[in-house]
Amino acid sequence: MKSFEKKVLCIGAGYVGGPTMAMIAAKCPQYEVTVVDIDERRIAAWQSDTLPIYEPGLLDVVKIARGRNLFFSTDIDEGIRHADIIFVSVNTPTKTFGDGAGRAADLQYWEKTARNIVAAAESDKIIVEKSTLPVRTAKAMGRILNANDKGIRFEVVSNPEFLAEGTAVADLENPDRVLIGSRETEPGLAARKEIVDIYANWVPAARIITSNVWSAELSKLVANAFLAQRISSINSISALCEKTKANVAEVAHAIGMDSRIGPKFLNASVGFGGSCFKKDILNLVYICENYGLYEVAQYWENVVRINEYQEQRFVRTMVRVMFNTVADKRIALFGFAFKKDTGDTRESPAIHVAKHLLAERARVVVTDPQALDNAKKDLAGAGGNVEYHEDPYEAARGAHAIAVCTEWQQYVHLDYRRIFDSMEKPAFIFDGRNILNHKELYETGFSVFPIGRTALKHF
Ligand code: UDX
Ligand code: ADP
Repeated sequence: MKSFEKKVLCIGAGYVGGPTMAMIAAKCPQYEVTVVDIDERRIAAWQSDTLPIYEPGLLDVVKIARGRNLFFSTDIDEGIRHADIIFVSVNTPTKTFGDGAGRAADLQYWEKTARNIVAAAESDKIIVEKSTLPVRTAKAMGRILNANDKGIRFEVVSNPEFLAEGTAVADLENPDRVLIGSRETEPGLAARKEIVDIYANWVPAARIITSNVWSAELSKLVANAFLAQRISSINSISALCEKTKANVAEVAHAIGMDSRIGPKFLNASVGFGGSCFKKDILNLVYICENYGLYEVAQYWENVVRINEYQEQRFVRTMVRVMFNTVADKRIALFGFAFKKDTGDTRESPAIHVAKHLLAERARVVVTDPQALDNAKKDLAGAGGNVEYHEDPYEAARGAHAIAVCTEWQQYVHLDYRRIFDSMEKPAFIFDGRNILNHKELYETGFSVFPIGRTALKHF
């Protein structure tokens, strides 16, 4: 049997663990990389050509390494015994119960994993926090792990993942930076070097940065808070643009050319979604409150509040301009994923839009190229009249309105004349992503309601 230089295990085969380990395995044939999960169906999917997540280019990366040095398994204990380095990327959702419900991170999966590691391990190991965790979690984890009577030592390192869904492969292959935080003791620095050495196989040295463990943990929360803050900032301005005939895209372009501000993440939208932004900001808010920093907590909490405001504003505008009633009107949602190029719908603004419209007794039709299965789960308990169609033309047929909730490129290039002809009149388009050609749509006959720009109305 071939002997590998390092044996790497990842516990948790989700959106973070799966792609990250596939990239490490593809770039480092000299390491053995095993990914384990309690979810048998997920593991079976990783072993097949229908991966459990939709991520452009990922299957090609998986195929480079799978069966060579990349393995997927449900035997967690064996994986732990065998590994030198264990990445942990189990889910850390927002707590739904007890103190901190709705805000704090629920660390039960993390703690169970830590206890699992202690129980199964037979030798010293490096434990890498990959999941996003509250600052100072490594301390608690270190305590749980090292309170063993087997004489085994665990060194906890923080290596937060900054990949974004839909661009995970490019983000992993060519990251802006890789951050590795450790204790600044001899064993801490040795563990840090082990992890640096993994990424050094393909990431330029200048982009691998190291810090103390608390800075690394906190940087992940802060990066997401800053990104989300930019979106809430431009979304708040979009509301003002609609009142003043300013165009939010022009404002974003003008301010983004200031090199101190920069052009990215200034697209006004129906709101940000995804598994990270809201969860991580509320987590930051909870941590600040715990330290008595109430003003700081409130400042960040408003980023989430503005996002909720933006989602509500979008759907309330829909109801208002459609003559204050959408009851029994067919409304097609173009896109349900929280962004393009993913099937993920976690915290997607489309969920809020759909539920609000259903509460108004509209007939909602959802179309999305990748997210229909998740959409069905999200709306399962919502009641009301919902249909699902893969084909956007079918979704729009007989509809009073279309609401673009996800910026899928295929929606830009549809035949909107054909769509218009198949719809009820007056026909409305609410472009929650500002991706369509509004002037052309207006000339076709639609009344068009973008975000942060003057509406183009035929009445
Ligand atoms: C984010 C971070 O970008 C990533 O670094 C971190 O590791 C995980 O969280 P992700 O949630 O996958 O990644 O997607 P992202 O591209 O950040 O988009 C988040 C949401 O913001 C989406 O709903 C997106 O549509 C929205 N968005 C993004 C805007 O509304 N406007 C923008 O200008 C950018
Ligand atoms: P993320 O977006 O952070 O990657 P996911 O929810 O996609 O989060 O993935 C987390 C994975 O962790 C899930 O597949 C879940 O089954 C797995 N998981 C949770 N708890 C454990 C555990 N104790 N042992 C192994 N896997 C776990």
